Amino acid sequence: MQGKRRGILVVVVMVAVVLVLAIGIIIGHFAVPKTQSYQQGAEDESISEKLIQEMKAENIESYLRDLTAHPHLAGTAADLSTAQNLSEFWKQQSFSRVSIVPYRVLLSYPDKENPNLVYLLDSNGQTLHRTQKMEKILRPEQNQSDVVPPFHAYSKPGSVTSEKLIYVNYGRVEDFIWLKENKSMNFNNTIVIARYGKIFRGDKVSNAENFGAKGILIYSDPADYAIDGETSVYPDSWWLPGTGVQRGTVYNGEGDPSTVGYPSLESSYRDISDRSEWPLPTISSHPIGYNDAIQFLGNMTGDVAPPEWQGKLSITYRLGPGFNNTSWKVQMNISTHDEYRTTYNVFGFIEGSVEPDRYVLIGNHRDAWVFGAADPSSGTAAMMEMSRAFGQMVKQGWRPRRTLIFCSWGAEEYGLIGSWEWVENFVKNLNQRAVAYLNVDIAVQGNYSMRASSTPSLHKIIYESSKKIPNPNPEEVKSDRPSLYDTWVNSFPRKGSQPKLPFINAVGAGSDFTGFLQLVGVSSMDTRYTYNTVSLLL
Ligand SMILES: *[C@@H]1O[C@H](CO)[C@@H](O)[C@H](O)[C@H]1NC(C)=O
Ligand SMILES: *[C@@H]1O[C@H](CO)[C@@H](O)[C@H](O)[C@H]1NC(C)=O
Ligand SMILES: *[C@@H]1O[C@H](CO)[C@@H](O)[C@H](O)[C@H]1NC(C)=O
Ligand SMILES: *[C@@H]1O[C@H](CO)[C@@H](O)[C@H](O)[C@H]1NC(C)=O
Ligand SMILES: *[C@@H]1O[C@H](CO)[C@@H](O)[C@H](O)[C@H]1NC(C)=O
Ligand SMILES: *[C@@H]1O[C@H](CO)[C@@H](O)[C@H](O)[C@H]1NC(C)=O
Ligand SMILES: *[C@@H]1O[C@H](CO)[C@@H](O)[C@H](O)[C@H]1NC(C)=O
Ligand SMILES: *[C@@H]1O[C@H](CO)[C@@H](O)[C@H](O)[C@H]1NC(C)=O
Ligand SMILES: *[C@@H]1O[C@H](CO)[C@@H](O)[C@H](O)[C@H]1NC(C)=O
Repeated sequence: MQGKRRGILVVVVMVAVVLVLAIGIIIGHFAVPKTQSYQQGAEDESISEKLIQEMKAENIESYLRDLTAHPHLAGTAADLSTAQNLSEFWKQQSFSRVSIVPYRVLLSYPDKENPNLVYLLDSNGQTLHRTQKMEKILRPEQNQSDVVPPFHAYSKPGSVTSEKLIYVNYGRVEDFIWLKENKSMNFNNTIVIARYGKIFRGDKVSNAENFGAKGILIYSDPADYAIDGETSVYPDSWWLPGTGVQRGTVYNGEGDPSTVGYPSLESSYRDISDRSEWPLPTISSHPIGYNDAIQFLGNMTGDVAPPEWQGKLSITYRLGPGFNNTSWKVQMNISTHDEYRTTYNVFGFIEGSVEPDRYVLIGNHRDAWVFGAADPSSGTAAMMEMSRAFGQMVKQGWRPRRTLIFCSWGAEEYGLIGSWEWVENFVKNLNQRAVAYLNVDIAVQGNYSMRASSTPSLHKIIYESSKKIPNPNPEEVKSDRPSLYDTWVNSFPRKGSQPKLPFINAVGAGSDFTGFLQLVGVSSMDTRYTYNTVSLLL
């Protein structure tokens, strides 16, 4: 969502906090200066302090500006050039070794000459409405030729038409069941329209598929994405404007869909005879903005949708099937197609002085659907400054106890593809040697509090580390919350814990820790700075 872009620059100073947390984990527990002999449990507090001192918010801001100057979609020329830039950057930090590891994988792209379009057609097949080809340019920096048109990665290509459009709320299983059982809705050969939110978009598509629909439109409703109203949106606020569209993958798996269970090496077998061999959606899917969605939703017939299904567009939401004018049709012309392209992972190593064959990995993905200011470049910028601070220590002769590996992943947005293929490639090695994987995807999406997800094995270390970090928000310090931990425990307390502890989510899936966690069983965590999600849910 591009509306996040401006907000992120405002709070860039918060980034330091997130990376300092991660440093606390590595340094506090896994590091020892080269000159000292290692003692069990010993921590050299001066090292974490030096690292915190070394990191500068201005550097993070400057990296973020560079990273977001151009689109950097996976599998494009920018995938390689950003990899080369990062590789150069790490070489300058005196890392022991830097490498770029490519994988040739199945990705998916729209056809720019023939963009995805959805039509409202009348009985003569005349176009009443056609969705926008590209998003409206709201700031001059957005006017760049390599911005990809809106699409759902791995949608089935082709043209589908139906007179029976059905509104399915969030497209959850319970939404479909309610329509089927309480409204006798038959989804066979229909096109459904779902709003974004609550569940992963790929699950909306597979639910539509399982209930028999042949196409799905997914739109962002102002109720979920412009909650201060349609006039308080980007570029005046961070909420989504009516012309904004959420791109994303609709693949429900992880890793290259054409090499399930093994790495995408040059020699690896791929069945390229038939798309149906791959675990991909078998229906067409397309994202639209709410300015387009109202044209369809506002002309629908059928029962009025229940109150909790009503969004914030100025219409009465109806369930369908179909339109008031019974001969009107919806037609989806989807040109998105699968394509083999190369994506690049970059690694920077700082060899451990005591246990070089034990790895602590710190990772972030590099690819974005468009400019990717929050997701993932806020994390990339944070990781860069963190690695620079480590590099300064290395230049002074310091070495960590264990080997640190900084990882920059390709093609995460498509289905965690870069990290998953690499973990599949080195699964046995990682099983023996990986100690912990620390993920940062979006480092900053708000200035309210940190939030963490992690395996229980890392909870204590996250608590301890966050206590060492000074609170960056002067208002919070005035309210007697001097550390990052203090704000965190105040903002997201764990229900019923005694003494009071911050809440930490479980890590499941959804970012590059997934391969480490699910294929290898490595202790993993993910952290970010976020907005007040509690007040938004009320
Ligand atoms: C790579 O770095 C150069 C020099 O700093 C910069 O001009 C260029 O825009 C960077 N490329 C990308 C893709 O970020
Ligand atoms: C149905 O649409 C046609 C144009 O496609 C229009 O002429 C007709 O008046 C519409 N009927 C109603 C009842 O709105
Ligand atoms: C975008 O750039 C092109 C070419 O430079 C220009 O013709 C066009 O008017 C610009 N569009 C906007 C909305 O700024
Ligand atoms: C159908 O509606 C009734 C009354 O609203 C509700 O009690 C019941 O749970 C619904 N059934 C399903 C399957 O949602
Ligand atoms: C769906 O429709 C097709 C024809 O369009 C028909 O052959 C099939 O039996 C229908 N399936 C169901 C579950 O109604
Ligand atoms: C219904 O469709 C017509 C024809 O495309 C359009 O002019 C009108 O704005 C639509 N209604 C709503 C409420 O959007
Ligand atoms: C469609 O029909 C419903 C009644 O079924 C009516 O309330 C609504 O205003 C109509 N919408 C349009 C765009 O004509
Ligand atoms: C959609 O695509 C089909 C198949 O290519 C084509 O026949 C049809 O004209 C297209 N629809 C519109 C409204 O252009
Ligand atoms: C946090 O963000 C809000 C909303 O963008 C802003 O009003 C507030 O000043 C920010 N607080 C700090 C301490 O930066």
